[in-house]
Amino acid sequence: MNHLLSINDLSRDDAQYLLAEAARLKAEIKFNPAAQMDILRGKTLAMVFEKPSLRTRVSFDVGMFQLGGHAITLAPQEIGLGKRESVADVARVLGGMCDGIMARVFKNETVVELAQWAGVPVINGLCDIEHPCQALADLLTLREEKRLEGRKIAYLGDGNNVCHSLMLLCAKVGVNFAAATPEGFEPDAKFVAWAKADGRVEIYRDPQEAVQGADAVYTDVWTSMGQEEESARRLEVFPPYQINAALMARAKADAIILHCLPAHRGEEISAEMMESSQSRVFQQAENRLHAQKAVLSWLLSDSLNGSQSQRAPVLGEG
Ligand code: CP
Ligand code: NVA
Repeated sequence: MNHLLSINDLSRDDAQYLLAEAARLKAEIKFNPAAQMDILRGKTLAMVFEKPSLRTRVSFDVGMFQLGGHAITLAPQEIGLGKRESVADVARVLGGMCDGIMARVFKNETVVELAQWAGVPVINGLCDIEHPCQALADLLTLREEKRLEGRKIAYLGDGNNVCHSLMLLCAKVGVNFAAATPEGFEPDAKFVAWAKADGRVEIYRDPQEAVQGADAVYTDVWTSMGQEEESARRLEVFPPYQINAALMARAKADAIILHCLPAHRGEEISAEMMESSQSRVFQQAENRLHAQKAVLSWLLSDSLNGSQSQRAPVLGEG
C-alpha cells in the first residue's frame, strides 16, 4: 500500500513522474476535460481536517471531481479524531467506505497511524513536520519557468513543515536548496541530513547570503497554525527575513517569488513583492490542484482492490 505521508515516501523517479504527470494533466484539462473523467470514476476521497484550509480543501475536492470521483470534507468537530473516536477506529471506518484519505493534522503520528489502519492510501495534507503536496506544487511552478536541474531555491524564515518538504523534494530532483532562518528556527537536523544525502543543501543565518543567485525566493508565515501563542516572540526575530525589493535585488534578475499562502503582507513578504511581476504565488496555489491530481491518480486508481479485500464475502462465496 502506497501513501504520501512524507516526501521521503517518493523515489527520485516517483517525484519526476508526479511533476511530469501534473504538468500533463494541467495542459490536458484545458482542452479535453472529458479525458480525465474516468481516471477515478466512482472513487471517494475522505478529507479529514484538524486545522483550517482554503487551498488544500478546494484543490482536493476539485481534483477528485475533475478525475471523475468524489470528495467528502470532515471538519474537526464532526469526527473528533482521537477524542470522540480513536484514530485507528476512524481509519478503519473510512477505509471501509472510501478509496483514500487526505488528512490535515497537528501531529505527524496521526497520519502515520491513519496509514497503519486504513487499508487505503493516506495523503498528508499538512502536519507539524511536513507538507508534501505543497512541495510538489512549488516545484511544478518552478518547472513551468525553467528546467529544474541545477536551479536554486532560497527559502527564508521559519524552518517549518513547508521548508522540510520543499528541502527534501528539491534535493531529490536536483534543485539546490538554501535556507536562511533566525537562530532557533532552523529546519530539523534530521531533515537536513536526509536532504543532504540526496542533493545540495545549505543552511544560513544571513538571508542575503541565501538568496545570492537564486532562481526562486520562497517564504511562509512566521507563525504556523497551532503556534499562535508564540506569535509575539516570532514577530521580534523574523523581520530581517522578509521578502522585499532590497532582498530580491540579490537574487537572479529573473528570480520568481513563491509563497505557499496564506500570506501576511508586511510580515514575511512586502505587499509590493507579493503583487510584483516576479510573484508566482497564485499560479503556485493553482498548481496544488494539478500536482494533487497526479498524486490522487497515482495512489487511488488501483486502490479499489485494497478496500474490496476487506469486505465481507457475499452469500454463496463460501
Ligand atoms: N498552502 C496551503 O496549504 O493552504 P491552505 O492552508 O489554505 O490549505
Ligand atoms: N507553515 C504553515 C503552512 C500553511 C499552509 C502552517 O503550518 O500553518
